[in-house]
Amino acid sequence: MSALKSISSLAVVRLRLTGFRSYGHLALDPEKRPVALFGPNGAGKTNLLEAVSLLAPGRGLRRARPLELAQKDGNGGWAVAASLVCGAERYDVGTGFEPGDGERRQVRIDGQSARGATALSGFSAAVWLTPAMDRLLAEGPGARRKLLDRVAFGFDPGHAGRVTAYEKAMSERARLLTGQGMRADAAWLSGLEEIMAAKGVAVAAARREAVKRLQEAMAQGPDSFPRPQLGLAGSVEEDLQTSPAVEVEDKLRDGLQRARQRDREYGGASLGPHRSDLVVRHAAKDMSAALCSTGEQKALLVSLVLGWARALADSRGFVPLVLLDEVAAHLDELRRAQLFEALDDLGAQTWATGTDAHLFSAWGGRAQLFRVEAGRAILMN
Ligand SMILES: Nc1ncnc2c1ncn2[C@@H]1O[C@H](COP(=O)(O)OP(=O)(O)OP(=O)(O)O)[C@@H](O)[C@H]1O
Ligand SMILES: [Mg+2]
Repeated sequence: MSALKSISSLAVVRLRLTGFRSYGHLALDPEKRPVALFGPNGAGKTNLLEAVSLLAPGRGLRRARPLELAQKDGNGGWAVAASLVCGAERYDVGTGFEPGDGERRQVRIDGQSARGATALSGFSAAVWLTPAMDRLLAEGPGARRKLLDRVAFGFDPGHAGRVTAYEKAMSERARLLTGQGMRADAAWLSGLEEIMAAKGVAVAAARREAVKRLQEAMAQGPDSFPRPQLGLAGSVEEDLQTSPAVEVEDKLRDGLQRARQRDREYGGASLGPHRSDLVVRHAAKDMSAALCSTGEQKALLVSLVLGWARALADSRGFVPLVLLDEVAAHLDELRRAQLFEALDDLGAQTWATGTDAHLFSAWGGRAQLFRVEAGRAILMN
């Protein structure tokens, strides 16, 4: 296992929520150690994790719109204020939303207004596993692509913009081809295909790199959890294995041009990295993850997320926050103990939730235990 103990871990040491989901006001001052939150269904555990996830770049663990995060029956605004520490560094982060702010949450770092949440990527990162991801290995490729893009975004914040530019050019091309509102001008179409080729190949290359780093990081992770074997299925990614990026770009651009008629009839684009898939197999069983049991899939996802955290730590030089929503409940006692050990080994400030305190008993005093109830979080140990 790689020595992560020598690098600093990012930790939240002060958290204040105002008008956020089920919370009117919440004050929590955790230590750098892991945090375990327990409480009945609907107590506000996931909401708390979601608030922490907004201290990292992106849209948070539910991908909610800023408007949806405001407490129902409140004034429509919300705020999350926090102090993050990492080694000797300390950052005061505020993020929030006021009605009229549009679609973006505001971010302040050390009292200064930042240009969007991506500014947080300079010093903050988080990985997470939520119940919404349980179907990830069994269902279609869309959610796996999104996860992989999030992983790639952690290594290179520019990735998100390239994905957006690619998708924007793709939908504009589709509108042009089907003649919605505009005339299908050949030069215009070529321009859009040019963008799709350039951005699409960059996106595919970043995904390949992300898979490679994930796989390497997982190889250094604990043996207690089954290891996934990752692959990327997609013509652009496959071409990148054998040809230089410029050639793959030319091939994609020409391919799109030739596909115009077909795409006009069927809609969308019949080739490009928006069709790629992250292929996951249970390495030891040599079996597609989709055919594995629910528990086995959960364990594969745990490995994946631990690998993601480790890969981020390797690339960023600090251990990210790890948010595990209801993960403990799905694991048997031995697996739970192994998970806590793996998390201790990683050294992350983990935020874990469960409905019952006993789920965390194997963590002992290494985690701070909070009972969440009626908009409050009470320290129990
Ligand atoms: N914008 C909002 N305003 C007020 N309440 C909200 C808002 N969004 C969600 N809630 C409520 O917050 C409560 C807590 O939700 P949360 O998902 O955090 O519960 P939980 O403790 O994770 O429960 P479970 O164990 O079932 O996952 C729920 O009753 C939910 O309906
Ligand atoms: Mg929950």
